[in-house]
Amino acid sequence: MWVPSPSATQQNCRMAQQTIGIIVNGATGRIGSTQHLANALVPIIAEGGLALEQDRLLPRLLLVGRDAERLAAVARNHKLADWTTNLDAALADPAYAILFDAAATQQRVSVLEKAIAAGKHVYCEKPVAPTAAQALMLLRQVERRGLRHGVVEDKVHLPGLSKLAAVVARGELGRLVGFRLDFGWWVFDGSEQPCQRPSWNYRPGGGGIILDMYPHWRYVIESIIGRIAAVASSAWIATPERIDERGERYSVAVEDSAATLLEVEGGVFGTVASSWATRVRRDDLLTLQIDGTQGSAIAGLHRCRVQSTAQTPAISHFNVMQDIGADYHSGWADAPTLPSYRNPYRVGWEAFLRHVAAGAPLACDFTAGIRDVAFAEACHRSTEERRWIPFPPPAGVDAG
Ligand SMILES: NC(=O)c1ccc[n+]([C@@H]2O[C@H](COP(=O)([O-])OP(=O)(O)OC[C@H]3O[C@@H](n4cnc5c(N)ncnc54)[C@H](O)[C@@H]3O)[C@@H](O)[C@H]2O)c1
Repeated sequence: MWVPSPSATQQNCRMAQQTIGIIVNGATGRIGSTQHLANALVPIIAEGGLALEQDRLLPRLLLVGRDAERLAAVARNHKLADWTTNLDAALADPAYAILFDAAATQQRVSVLEKAIAAGKHVYCEKPVAPTAAQALMLLRQVERRGLRHGVVEDKVHLPGLSKLAAVVARGELGRLVGFRLDFGWWVFDGSEQPCQRPSWNYRPGGGGIILDMYPHWRYVIESIIGRIAAVASSAWIATPERIDERGERYSVAVEDSAATLLEVEGGVFGTVASSWATRVRRDDLLTLQIDGTQGSAIAGLHRCRVQSTAQTPAISHFNVMQDIGADYHSGWADAPTLPSYRNPYRVGWEAFLRHVAAGAPLACDFTAGIRDVAFAEACHRSTEERRWIPFPPPAGVDAG
């Protein structure tokens, strides 16, 4: 259990310090406890801190959540001493320079506002806010206070997508002509098996597959393919009733499936299909195929395969009388392996800590986070209005 440290002096993060205090809000959650603690911050601590140019930066963590027993268990598990259920008291402690939020999305804005008012640098899970207008307001607040800000954009650091990005950047595919992103799996409604995702994911205010996943698709598509110019979306509720964590039946009021047509600047078109109501019969849970004049490449989470023009079969027709038994998976070669690979959430943490402690540039700041949310909003609007929606950055933000 943590005791506030009134005597601790505020850390000056412009100079490399031995330790940096980080409040981890939502520390018992799915993503907070696994990726951010177990796979990123705890390993950095175990290695004696993050190597900076002249020093090592050692995170000192204060875990925050709602359930004392679960918090104590997570802390024990990681040999961490400090936890509390009192976020306000944690924010009042000057020993902690950073607030990280991985709690449920619907509380994000109020948590970040309090943290900014307390003078903390802020890093958070996506989406940075439920609406782009709220995200922009947060950006203005951090800018006014001169604080550092960042949002988790982990998917571009997945090995499969990193290899795909390298293939595209090397120009191996020639002129890009199209792309297709497919994502999802079956999420049980809770009647036959427990639902694999928290019930808030299916309720208004923070739930819905568009607000949940489309922020990822924005930075994945824009960093690998090009800037999105317009979207045409549809979304629907495939599973109208679910059973929550307490065994109670509830109506699903937000979409669990969505499909989007995208136009990327330069005239490249593509599709995105995302669903919690589909069974997997593809290479991976997430796949992104990009087609070009010189070849195609398709990435899953870990692998990326390329088919060059020379390997492309000359298909002229299909046979309606007989299955010719063609193997369309042949003729694809593995993309070169990466020189090194680190957990994507750890990559994000290292970049953010270097940004705070040493002023290193950070691509995934709130400006990028606003564009992630604005993309989700444009897709919602297209769904409601049943038309193509242009995708400029929100007023006053030159995002991306
Ligand atoms: N980057 C990624 O790939 C990724 C993946 C999953 C989740 N996320 C984001 O991380 C955040 C947390 O998601 P999660 O799946 O870990 O959620 P979770 O429900 O497992 O964890 C949320 C935590 O928030 C806290 N919480 C506070 N108020 C709550 C409330 N009213 N209802 C439920 N929990 C509440 C709980 O203590 C819980 O530990 C979300 O913003 C989500 O968008 C990101």
